[in-house]
Amino acid sequence: MCGIVGYVGPRPVLDVLVPGLTHLEYRGYDSAGVALNVGDRIEVIKTAGRMSDLEDLIGYFEGDVISGVGHTRWATHGAPNSVNAHPHTDASGDAVVVHNGIVENWSELKQKLIESGHEFRSQTDTEVVAHMIGDLADLPLVEAVRQVMNEAEGALALAVMRRSEPELIVGARRGSPLVVGRGDGENFLASDIPAFLEHTREMVVIDDNRVIEVRPTSIRLMDLEGNEIEPEHRKVEWDFEAAEKGGYDTFMLKEIYEQPKAIADTLAGRVSQSGRVVLNELEMDDRLLRAIDKVFVIACGTSYHAAMMAKYAIERWTRLPVEIDIASEFRYRDPVLDSRSLVIAISQSGETIDTLEAARYAKAQGANLIGVSNVVDSALAREADAVLYTRAGPEIGVAATKTFTTQLVAMQLLGLYLAQVRGTLDPGAIEVMVRDLTLLPGQVEEVLEISDEIRRLTGQWSDVNDYFFLGRSGDFPVAMEGALKLKEIAYVRAEGYAAGEMKHGPIALIEKGVVVVGVATDSHVKTKTLSNMQEMKARDGTIVLIAENGDDVGDVADHVIKVPEGRDLLCTVTAVVPLQLLAYHVATAKGLDVDKPRNLAKTVTVE
Ligand code: AGP
Repeated sequence: MCGIVGYVGPRPVLDVLVPGLTHLEYRGYDSAGVALNVGDRIEVIKTAGRMSDLEDLIGYFEGDVISGVGHTRWATHGAPNSVNAHPHTDASGDAVVVHNGIVENWSELKQKLIESGHEFRSQTDTEVVAHMIGDLADLPLVEAVRQVMNEAEGALALAVMRRSEPELIVGARRGSPLVVGRGDGENFLASDIPAFLEHTREMVVIDDNRVIEVRPTSIRLMDLEGNEIEPEHRKVEWDFEAAEKGGYDTFMLKEIYEQPKAIADTLAGRVSQSGRVVLNELEMDDRLLRAIDKVFVIACGTSYHAAMMAKYAIERWTRLPVEIDIASEFRYRDPVLDSRSLVIAISQSGETIDTLEAARYAKAQGANLIGVSNVVDSALAREADAVLYTRAGPEIGVAATKTFTTQLVAMQLLGLYLAQVRGTLDPGAIEVMVRDLTLLPGQVEEVLEISDEIRRLTGQWSDVNDYFFLGRSGDFPVAMEGALKLKEIAYVRAEGYAAGEMKHGPIALIEKGVVVVGVATDSHVKTKTLSNMQEMKARDGTIVLIAENGDDVGDVADHVIKVPEGRDLLCTVTAVVPLQLLAYHVATAKGLDVDKPRNLAKTVTVE
């Protein structure tokens, strides 16, 4: 997830680009850059770090600028350094590109370009686009961009300039956001409205698979076949803060709704048409992965719940024994590790000190370390022998939502990959699961539609202070995560428990007024979970059940929340979404600040 801004018009271009990018920093903040068309050349200024670092460099620039594009980056391919920062230019420096998204077939395209003599400077997928545009210098820029859009696969929002056409920016959109701000004798192109809101409230919506020419006094929209399309004009009614949140009341809600896209990004380029998992990026030798005889998964908080799911997935699919540890406990139990151990450390930030120290300890014992992180080049990523990025984009809300569901998907991919390399699942079984993984974005979309139903339900619980979240097998980590969400943002006591364990003690706490949320999607244990929920009902608990469409759950629940039918373990991704919404609605009904819950920090760098 990155931020794009473009401007053509009479204002000093940097006075538009710099504040515009600053307003988009919530979309990405590991590096930033601008490209300025000064007529006889395109000047590129870029750096690792935040907008303030870029502004320091821009301070040295002098000259009259006709148009410009800028970018604030959230790395997906290549470390966040000044070479990988956008904009990227073609070989001649005459064409320049900023990009938000992932070019899924970039390595194939790059190979072709290298064979035809192109030299690459960065490790990004975006540079491929710049070279392709450079090769099409004979075509009008809009045609060149259209051609690139037809060749490049995946999510692309582009803003492209050419030195020879200084009063033109061409934008393109597929899967990543891009809008035009319309001014009087000036126009803006941006990933999001806050970038131009101080200049204009008039905007043009760009649908997917569109290319747009933006000049100071005109815009021209077309589809990927080159047919002209009538632009749809809108007036922005939001204020700044609402615009940053995309019209949602909070970042947390926005991030909950970003999950279908985030999951699609996690999968992008990692599953093949033929149903195989493609994790070339891991760069871990297959022989080494075949020699592994034990797996450890370590993490904290929400990431630990992803680790719980990973244990079920890896054990079920690879038959390797898996131990999971809360990272802050790992070092102190003297785990038995050696060169045949695979340690997977999961951390969205990649900076959590408990997880980092545990990972370092594992490496020092000779274990092989895979880091699973949302932040490219994080401390964990640098420490690990191999990294799998979750690609959820920046998460501003303290409570993890999209970073959790993408961790689940990343771990499912990793589990299937290990099974593929070790030959423990037959290719047909992997193919079926890969297909089901690709259904997840659409299924999560469906679950999001029941938000109002959940809000109405939780509206009855203003006096409730005791919650239990119960599940077995793959549903157990989901229950744990549901409880953690509620605790951290709504400040109520909520226990996540293995449903079958309740009868060994905690059932004594169940009485009238206690809400018990059961999760029953894992086919191995569904009926057992339902029996456990009957036991809660018999003690007068208020019963809410998360169940799959088509399941007959009898009369056990006071309220049933249905999620799409899915495969065991993959279903964790859809089943947790109603619980995120449940916590959200309970907290907001109490008037709490869900984005910044009390006593918490987004990244915990103390032991
Ligand atoms: C979850 O909502 C919390 N923000 C917290 O539990 C978090 O998951 C934990 O601190 C671990 O963070 P990490 O994934 O960045 O390592």
